[in-house]
Amino acid sequence: MHKNFAKIEILDTGDIYSPVFNDIYFSPAGGYMESLHVFAEPNNIPQKFFSNEITNIFEAGFGTGLNFLLTLKLFLQFAPKSASLDYTSFEKYPISPEQMEKIHNFFIFLRHESISFLKSYSKIDFNKNFTQFSFYNKRVSLNIIFDDLTEVKKYLPGKFFHAWYLDGFNPKENPEMWSESFFEFMGKNSFDNATFSTFSAAGFIKRGLLKSGFQVEKIKGFNRKREMLKGYKTKCLDKIF
Ligand SMILES: C[S@@+](CC[C@H](N)C(=O)[O-])C[C@H]1O[C@@H](n2cnc3c(N)ncnc32)[C@H](O)[C@@H]1O
Repeated sequence: MHKNFAKIEILDTGDIYSPVFNDIYFSPAGGYMESLHVFAEPNNIPQKFFSNEITNIFEAGFGTGLNFLLTLKLFLQFAPKSASLDYTSFEKYPISPEQMEKIHNFFIFLRHESISFLKSYSKIDFNKNFTQFSFYNKRVSLNIIFDDLTEVKKYLPGKFFHAWYLDGFNPKENPEMWSESFFEFMGKNSFDNATFSTFSAAGFIKRGLLKSGFQVEKIKGFNRKREMLKGYKTKCLDKIF
């Protein structure tokens, strides 16, 4: 068994609970709708598929793969045939293939995408830190890095992204995923106007992202959550002058 497999409880309601972080993977009010509200919409994902030949998305916290599957569904629905999706996600505590299959039974709106994904996920060598899958005639690449997000610079030097999904657990329980050095990495590795979003509205996240060159806005959170953050990377002045 992979030494870092996630310790999770799959509740009858479909909630996936982490006793280690005392948090759930997504909202009991509907993970699919939450993922749309918190990540796909604020990052203008369908529009990005239209305007880029390749859209590079970075996710902090792969978890159950829900955000990936939803993004893939939007890609298959909206992207022109010439477009590609490159999705990179970090995960320190991967979910075992057996548990992943159980969880995906709850994803009734993502059945088609889940089937392709599970086939590949069941074959992963979890002893390797980096794994890459291709789907749909190589139009879609999924790169999962099984390591601590604090190691991000080591894996992705010089890779640029169009969108950032910040989906670590609650910052109070999981501060490593919300570090200044990660926000700096985001600033350096963003295309102009790259977007980000997160379910959290914590002040230190807002300040860290402002410092790294992002415009930050508070918007209504999902369901009963009052606020969340979204924003975009402003153009670098040294590229204008
Ligand atoms: C809220 S869950 C992510 C949910 C996920 N995006 C989904 O679609 O199911 C947060 C994830 O961050 C992972 N995580 C926690 N600490 C981490 C770290 N230091 N580095 C990388 N991943 C971490 C957890 O194992 C968990 O899968």
